[in-house]
Amino acid sequence: MVHVHRFALANAQVTVFPAAAELFAAAADEFLRIIIESLAQRSTVSIALSGGSTPRSIYSLIAERAKTIPQGGGEDGRIDWRKVHLFFGDERCVPPDDKDSNYRMVRESLLSNSGLGAARVHRVKAELAPEEAARQYEEDLRQHFGAGMPAFDLILLGLGPDGHTASLFPNTAALGVADRFVVANEVPQQKSTRITFTFPVLNNAKEVLFLVSGEEKSSALCHALIARDVPAARVQPLRRLLWFVDAAASAELMRQKGA
Ligand code: 6PG
Repeated sequence: MVHVHRFALANAQVTVFPAAAELFAAAADEFLRIIIESLAQRSTVSIALSGGSTPRSIYSLIAERAKTIPQGGGEDGRIDWRKVHLFFGDERCVPPDDKDSNYRMVRESLLSNSGLGAARVHRVKAELAPEEAARQYEEDLRQHFGAGMPAFDLILLGLGPDGHTASLFPNTAALGVADRFVVANEVPQQKSTRITFTFPVLNNAKEVLFLVSGEEKSSALCHALIARDVPAARVQPLRRLLWFVDAAASAELMRQKGA
């Protein structure tokens, strides 16, 4: 039995895992739980995946577990992957086979050689000019969700050392966008432009799960959950806000929280 430390903070439920491996396993469980629960009630489930390096291990774990999950519509733990729609919270402006592509990372870790082959993947066409890529991706969202705001069942997010999430970086224009679902965001600190969901989409999700691992995130985590002065602090979804963090990432938070 893994000993975890769980507490409420900043409208979130924070769970501290002893090490990254336990965090990854719990995240994979939550991902599959939401799919099974959603498909037991509705005909589709919509999830937005996080990019970066932390999720890669989680996606590999999900892919492994998916191989043993019977096909079906959500009853008794079965999953019909054709009903699972996978989106991306953000994407780098590179072709899909580029080493920096979040799609490539997801294809390699989650989609290839796994039971998720039948899942409906909504790729950002990031090989296009940024504004056109953002426009087409937003159109895909509108097609999928119909009128009104996109309502994801789950959005997975990471946390950058500067407190960014998705590609909502400090001091960038996307932070202030309220009338678009997706924008091409110029990120000078990355010397690049990125395609990203805006806060209205993130905050209209039923559940957001942040995945934070490693000592290099400890300062950003305090800014996100205590000072609340970084972009990640502005993510406040409709129902559940979960932070899965490992002990290395949460050491400073526990000190500041006086735990
Ligand atoms: C990306 C992500 C980005 C990421 C954070 C944390 O495209 O890189 O959307 O927001 O989640 O930078 O990245 P790591 O998990 O690799 O530390």
